[in-house]
Amino acid sequence: IDSTVTLNNGVKMPQLGMGVWKINNSGASQSVQWALKHGYKAIDTAKQYGNEAGVGDGLTKGLADNGMKREDIFLTTKVFNGDQGYESTLENFEGQLKRLQTDYVDLLLIHWPVDGLYLDTWRALEKIYRDGKARAIGVSNFSVTRLQNILKIASIKPVIDQVEFNPLCQDEDIISYCEENNIYVEAWSPLGGGTVLGDERLKKIAAKYNKSVAQIIIRWDLQRGIITIPKSAHEARIQQNSEVFDFELSEDDMTEISSYDEAKRSLWYGGFYWHGNPTGAKSAVQQWD
Ligand code: A2P
Repeated sequence: IDSTVTLNNGVKMPQLGMGVWKINNSGASQSVQWALKHGYKAIDTAKQYGNEAGVGDGLTKGLADNGMKREDIFLTTKVFNGDQGYESTLENFEGQLKRLQTDYVDLLLIHWPVDGLYLDTWRALEKIYRDGKARAIGVSNFSVTRLQNILKIASIKPVIDQVEFNPLCQDEDIISYCEENNIYVEAWSPLGGGTVLGDERLKKIAAKYNKSVAQIIIRWDLQRGIITIPKSAHEARIQQNSEVFDFELSEDDMTEISSYDEAKRSLWYGGFYWHGNPTGAKSAVQQWD
């Protein structure tokens, strides 16, 4: 669980962390404390999740309980769609730090590429990085075209593109573009929000290794060189999801799982922007070229 990757700015990041989407403040605090208890070193949240304060509370308590320091943890948060733009990102970031009970984050991501604003938002992230308030900066849900747009204006390159990624949803074009450009891909909803766990083919593979489907998928991410942040609100599952360093998937099984791609994105992709839509874009589908 202490296995790390080195981002393109030299910062080391744990390859496995825990996500906290769809958990409220008290749930997030509890999950973060469980995660720290079970050895996790990375937590991923976002203003959009509405639980930064819970994560901050869980970190403060969890660090104390486990005799850990802030530097022992890698903390990621993201810029809220409604905060995008240069000044607005800078101003609102101070509130994020306050809620998270910290004076810096390890990784700050643009949550979604809000068209018309994301380049200015990127410039704000560069300022936050230069000011030492984020140890690394990156993006999330950026297509290859939008990544290219960032690279054209960036004086600091994104370290990560965090995208939806699971055996049924693999954006090969993003994966290879990121590989070529020394940008790590980080998987959100690596278990497909739980929907991939019932897949009969994966169940068969899991039985062979005497592991759960969740563990097989997480292991598949790790062996592909992808950073992954499964979410759970249950202690036993949080623990289970961390027990993925005592076995290895064979090359055949890796290839087999990688063949399951059906470009199946979460339903809400086709729906709407949650929490603010400053540019009037009709739907999040517009993120994809
Ligand atoms: P819960 O939070 O109730 O434990 P993703 O990370 O892809 O978004 O998936 C998260 C979903 O998968 C949540 O609904 C979570 O449920 C469930 N989940 C996470 N880990 C496991 C596990 N090891 N076994 C079964 N379900 C899991």
